[in-house]
Amino acid sequence: MLRWVENIRNPIPSPEMVPQMPLRSREWFAGREELAFQHRSALRSMGLDPDFYANKPVIGIANSWSDLNNCNHNLRQLAEAVKRGVLAAGGLPLEFPTISLGEEFMKPSAMLYRNLMAMDVEETLRSNPVDGVVLLCNCDKTTPAQLMGAASANLPTIQLNGGARSVGNWRGQPVGSGTDIWRYWDAVRAGQITREDWSDLEASISCSAGACNTMGTASTMTSLSEALGMMLPGISSLPATDARRLTAAEATGRRIVDLVLEDLRPTDILTPLAFDNAIRLLMALGGSTNAVVHLIAIAGRLNITLPLSRFDELSRTTPWLVNLSPSGKFLMDEFHAAGGVPAVMSEIKHLLNLKCKTVTGQPLEASVARARSFNKEVIRPTATPLSPQGAIATLSGTLAPQGAVIKASAATPALMVHRGPAFVFHNYEDMLQRINDPDLPVDGNSVLVLQNAGPKGVPGFPEWGMIPVPQKLLEQGITDLVRISDSRMSGTSFGTVVLHVAPEAAAGGPLALVQNGDLIELNVPERRVDLLVEPAELERRRTAWRPPVSAHLRGYPRLYIDHVLQADEGCDFDFLRPRNAAEQQFVPPLVGRS
Ligand code: FES
Repeated sequence: MLRWVENIRNPIPSPEMVPQMPLRSREWFAGREELAFQHRSALRSMGLDPDFYANKPVIGIANSWSDLNNCNHNLRQLAEAVKRGVLAAGGLPLEFPTISLGEEFMKPSAMLYRNLMAMDVEETLRSNPVDGVVLLCNCDKTTPAQLMGAASANLPTIQLNGGARSVGNWRGQPVGSGTDIWRYWDAVRAGQITREDWSDLEASISCSAGACNTMGTASTMTSLSEALGMMLPGISSLPATDARRLTAAEATGRRIVDLVLEDLRPTDILTPLAFDNAIRLLMALGGSTNAVVHLIAIAGRLNITLPLSRFDELSRTTPWLVNLSPSGKFLMDEFHAAGGVPAVMSEIKHLLNLKCKTVTGQPLEASVARARSFNKEVIRPTATPLSPQGAIATLSGTLAPQGAVIKASAATPALMVHRGPAFVFHNYEDMLQRINDPDLPVDGNSVLVLQNAGPKGVPGFPEWGMIPVPQKLLEQGITDLVRISDSRMSGTSFGTVVLHVAPEAAAGGPLALVQNGDLIELNVPERRVDLLVEPAELERRRTAWRPPVSAHLRGYPRLYIDHVLQADEGCDFDFLRPRNAAEQQFVPPLVGRS
């Protein structure tokens, strides 16, 4: 029997129990006579007779499928399998679209719209006759956006991802999404491969729908959803094209009906201890730095504070075990074959809170009880880790008073302690115009600084933090140098790159005050990043500093600039985070049309 199915068949409430269940959808279909008439009539217009759905939980299927999002392109097929499962378990499936956030196309960044998608999910659930929901996600931001919205709506929820795309092959070598693009782009710029090679690579690297097949942000976030307990165990790493993913979708559809009948909600699952488990897994995976921002944002919806110091504390005591690109060598299909998330969690189970509830209705320990690594090169044992500490370090210091992050596992060891003169780009366009100038006054000792690329500065907190190595240095054989910004970095990227500096430059953080030649010191072992400029001089510069004027005067980008929180607070909107338990638990009353 499939391992994710084994764990999910709890004693199911008998059909006789169902009429007694306080189903939320009854307010619509059996409430005030004239409104219930309208609502039943609406379902009749779709061919649904009340005799068919009476007393059945209504299961929403939030589908982020879109032609504008290749990574989520298999979700339509999965939605059909979910519906089969819902019907088999005695529920009524009603699929609905949400906005989709395709990392490849959305500019300046899908991150700008994460909070909008979270609002879409929350408000669609709040305003409709839904008793429970299946969230269909895949590309980077779709997973956290759905979890943020569902956490606020707090209806019984389960998540299902689309899986990683097939691995491309170029000249006899497997090529990983994203990561190998960055690697070979540097080779093009250094003149090591031709434009024809580059074009051939383009045709070879993306071989099916599905998420990036490295441990980038998408696979990191779906792994963390499983670790949080919001996805059935063992399914997040199933390849997009694997038929077992359809079986998992059907099991997910069956399970959500049980979740409604058991009244198991996100607030029962997404506890502070569950977030600790997710952070531990993030470190063991060598996962994306973006996950730090997303976990803080999801927790914030539940009135749970996750300070950056908690990430660092858990990172220092969690071994990095998973040898996946971009930090390591293998790709997602090999990760799944090696045992996936349950196998990693089994390796670090002595560090986890195994009593945490999951969507299986059982504690996490049931999901990891019989899991093990089938390939110890891909998922290392704790006795022989890739590193005794986690992959991500959080920093603070005079350059980042509210914090910053670095993916230590993807950085150059020799640069982890480094002091060098700053070379400053004032914004992204400035960087693009000058980075390949043969007379750029930089060398391997320089520290490249990018300002005004943070949440408010663009707006949208794009993935511009991996500033390219200047062409003149590449030609000298220098492939990495310290780079610092208030931006993010793609989960598929690598290098000695300090990210998420907070407060950001556009909010008046010290990053805004850095000038060419200032000494900057990075000390990852001591978790510090400092601007070595006298306080009096910084004060003089601060007096002269003026915030950048945004071209965005109206609409969603304006709302974003006015309300987005800084990176260390998860970049949610200030008005979406409950300020206390009462705000979190508030459920607006249903008001019908008169
Ligand atoms: Fe969508 Fe990587 S671009 S998952």
